[in-house]
This record gives sequence, structure tokens and C-alpha cells, in this order.
Amino acid sequence: MLDTLNHVAIIMDGNGRWAKSQNKKRTFGHYHGANNVRDIALHANELGIKVLTLYAFSTENWKRPLEEVEYLMKLPAVFFDRFMDELMQNQIKVECIGHFHRLAPQTRKVLQRAIEQSKNNTKMKLVFAMDYGSRDEIVEAMKKYAEDVKNGKENNLVEADVAKYLMTSDYGDVDLLIRTSNEKRISNFLLWQIAYAELIFVDKPWPLFTSQDLDTCILEYTQRDRRFGGLKK
Ligand code: IPE
Ligand code: IPE
Ligand code: MG
Repeated sequence: MLDTLNHVAIIMDGNGRWAKSQNKKRTFGHYHGANNVRDIALHANELGIKVLTLYAFSTENWKRPLEEVEYLMKLPAVFFDRFMDELMQNQIKVECIGHFHRLAPQTRKVLQRAIEQSKNNTKMKLVFAMDYGSRDEIVEAMKKYAEDVKNGKENNLVEADVAKYLMTSDYGDVDLLIRTSNEKRISNFLLWQIAYAELIFVDKPWPLFTSQDLDTCILEYTQRDRRFGGLKK
């Protein structure tokens, strides 16, 4: 069944609440959340998952206090300083979706460096959704499509074409979507791509989500009956 598990996406939620429960600042939660990305990415890679897309910063997260936003923009540098070697050793390929050009130049540079350095790696794609919002992605896709129609490159839109214009065009639909910290919503993440994803909501906040918890989610996924609108096999 694992061979049908191509694309896992995670809404890494609950960093702030976890930090508060430890009487610490929210940024403490983000720091530990980023450390946890390392553990979960390495484990997912070992399991043979092809694409792991992580919601790291949404188009709506700019609404947060400046101090928190600035910290989140600096986290990629901290993360790659600590873990890039391990990602390389494990043949993990770093990629990004989202509005690259709106990120702070330094953040962009750090991400671009990681993408460039790992571009020939052959195992799991580790995709960071940074300044990503699904509605925003759909608007961008529509603009590009309109441009291509104007230039005579496209007409007669079909579903597969829409997927092609999205930022996830290389990754395909999500098979399993996990959200931590007991919130049961999607928060503008991969709306098109989760049309038939299995959804799993986990109580634990992201910094406490372990490799074993990922195994448990995958076990649950394997026990689900994905019908895609058809009948039970
Ligand atoms: C998720 O944790 C990380 C980001 C959104 C960047 P939160 O920061 O949303 O943590 P809670 O939900 O407030 O606990
Ligand atoms: C979703 O979490 C975004 C990320 C995990 C990056 P939020 O904490 O921003 O979502 P809401 O506000 O609770 O819906
Ligand atoms: Mg949250």
C-alpha cells in the first residue's frame, strides 16, 4: 500500500500553543518545530515517500506580529545551517512553493542555495510551502493560463491542465494530509490538490509529533478505503 503513498502533506500547526504550555515565547515553539522537520523528513525519506510538502508559512501568516514574522523568515537559515548536510547525505531534494519574491531577500537566498545544492538528489522531494496560499496559487495559475490563451498556446481547458499551472505541477495530488494540534481545517493549503486526499487530524502539537506518529498516520491511511467516487473494491 505504501507504493500508493506518493505525496504526503503536513500542516505543521501548534508551535505557539506548545511553547505557551512550556511558559516560553512562541518563537521557542517555532525553533523546536523546525528541528522536528528534520526528524520527520528523514523518516519520511526512509519510508520511501516521494514528496513531503510542509506548510511552513501561509499567505495569511503575514498578519502576525512583526517579531514573529521576522523570526519565521530567519528560520530557514537556522534550519539549513544545522541540517543541510544530513539532507544531502540522505539524497533529499529541497524545493519550495509559494511567493518567493515576497520573502525577505536573505530568506530567499538561503532557500535558493538549498534548492541549488540539492537539485541532483534523487530521493524524496522536501517541499517547503513558504508564503504559500492555495487561493493565491489558483489566481496565479489563472493569470498564466489567460496569458497563454492570449498568446494562442492554450484553449479548451481540462482538469489536467489546471494541475499543470499550479505550483505543485511536479508533485501531483496529495494522498495523505496530516494536520497537527487538533484543528480541523485546511487554512488555505493545497485546495485543488487534496480533492481526494485522506485527511488525518492529530491532537499533538507539531513540535511533539514523532516519527512513530507518522507511522501511525500511515497505518491509518493504509486501512482507509480510497474509492475516488467509485465502489468499494
Ligand atoms: C504553526 O504553528 C506554524 C506556523 C503557522 C508558522 P502556529 O504558530 O500556528 O502555532 P499555534 O497554532 O498558534 O499554536
Ligand atoms: C496554518 O496554520 C499555516 C501553517 C501551518 C504554516 P495557522 O495556524 O496559520 O492556521 P489558522 O490560522 O489556525 O487557520
Ligand atoms: Mg496555528
